[in-house]
Amino acid sequence: SRPPSIRSILNHGQPGDAVMANGWVRSKRVLKGFAFLDLNDGSSMQGLQVVLDEALPAFAAQLNQLGTGASVTVHGDLVASQGKNQRIELKATSLQVWGTADPQTYPLQKKRHSFEFLRTIAHLRSRTNTLGAVFRVRNACSHAIHQFFQEQGFLWVHTPIITHGDCEGAGEQFSVTALDLHHLPLTAQQSIDWSQDFFGQPTYLTVSGQLEAEIMAMAFTHVYTFGPTFRAENSNTSRHLAEFWMVEPEMAFCNLQGDMDWAESFLKFVFRQVLEQCADDFEFFNQRIDSTVLETAQLIIDQPFERMTYTEAINRLEQCDRSFEFPVAWGIDLQSEHERYLTEDLVKRPVIVTDYPKDIKAFYMRLNEDLKTVAAMDILVPKIGELVGGSQREERLEVLQARMQETNLPGEDYWWYLDLRRYGTVPHAGFGLGFERLVQFMTGMQNIRDVIPFPRTPMSADF
Ligand code: 4AD
Ligand code: MG
Repeated sequence: SRPPSIRSILNHGQPGDAVMANGWVRSKRVLKGFAFLDLNDGSSMQGLQVVLDEALPAFAAQLNQLGTGASVTVHGDLVASQGKNQRIELKATSLQVWGTADPQTYPLQKKRHSFEFLRTIAHLRSRTNTLGAVFRVRNACSHAIHQFFQEQGFLWVHTPIITHGDCEGAGEQFSVTALDLHHLPLTAQQSIDWSQDFFGQPTYLTVSGQLEAEIMAMAFTHVYTFGPTFRAENSNTSRHLAEFWMVEPEMAFCNLQGDMDWAESFLKFVFRQVLEQCADDFEFFNQRIDSTVLETAQLIIDQPFERMTYTEAINRLEQCDRSFEFPVAWGIDLQSEHERYLTEDLVKRPVIVTDYPKDIKAFYMRLNEDLKTVAAMDILVPKIGELVGGSQREERLEVLQARMQETNLPGEDYWWYLDLRRYGTVPHAGFGLGFERLVQFMTGMQNIRDVIPFPRTPMSADF
């Protein structure tokens, strides 16, 4: 029969139950006549305490093999625990050791390791308390995201990873080619004969599924994507990855107000679900990683987000008594020091900044009546900065064409995107949520590399 998870044994097991438990030894304590194992299978922060009595067959021989990291199956009976940390424990009647872990070489001995060190052993770090909690929260978060959109009637659409265009127009794409270019000098690579390549033209890894999501929204009204995206940018910070997951809903018959309302209720829902499902893990983060995460989660759930225009934000930044490294003036892109001031000092909660100058935003954003700003909205949060980027899209064919010319986008490559404005165009809006930034924000983890199992950043290619 299928053995229960340790989480379910801890939650539902009763003294007298005969159970079988699988897991890895986190620690061992040897006392006179018996020993305790802390057994963990990843299902919860807390492990199952296993009691080994010296009367067990092969007790002495097995005890030697049961160091931190060893994998075992234990059969036994649950008994009420005398210890203060657990309600029940498992008194073993037999035990099988599957694999040992030599304490001389196994890197995860029972002590605190730095996150920098753990990144060098990404194949083992998920067995630690912190990374274990992070990846359970990450899982609960993915589930809550799907739950929200599914309950609201959104269709999950799968957008391509290999694309021809550059959605954000920022030139941060990784190219994909079947040609072996490595031996060619850069100058020669620029004169490649693409007709010889698998795709017959330059192709890239997607930076965003938005444009394809817009296509689907023009058929299904409410859709979302949730998948990996890739950016060859600025990845040497604690908030950037070269490969990250993005959630991108797209809503037809929706304006910027509606877009913000969707984003806010979405975030509130996800926090509520994850807080409930991962209560122990949240408790752990609050105690060990960042003592504000519980308070912050409650704030997200209970308080409306602040909303202000970009122009207002610039005014507030200009008027404040802080001196910034990057000078503030209307037209600049907000830097993380500015975002932090707004969310951490000025309003102390998430801020939705709207109506940015068109020159610092992508071509597809809807031009406002002032002809200077676009119907954009970014959600900024304390410590992280930009968590969400979204906008109402330009649905007017001529305005869009003019914007594309202004930004030097070849109209012929986007004929299908323009077609959406030719046939049954409608006001529509959407946003992109950086999934790892959300997990980072929720858990209080300082570095984005510690909230994704295998971070892709410059110089990281062990896996
Ligand atoms: O603001 P961005 O570039 O927006 C878009 O890509 C739009 N097409 C989204 C849409 O409207 N459908 O990216 C969206 C979010 C950012 O707010 C940030 O949270 C995250 O994606 N993000 C990154 N996360 C980790 N590493 C990176 N290099 C990121 N770049 C953006
Ligand atoms: Mg953005």
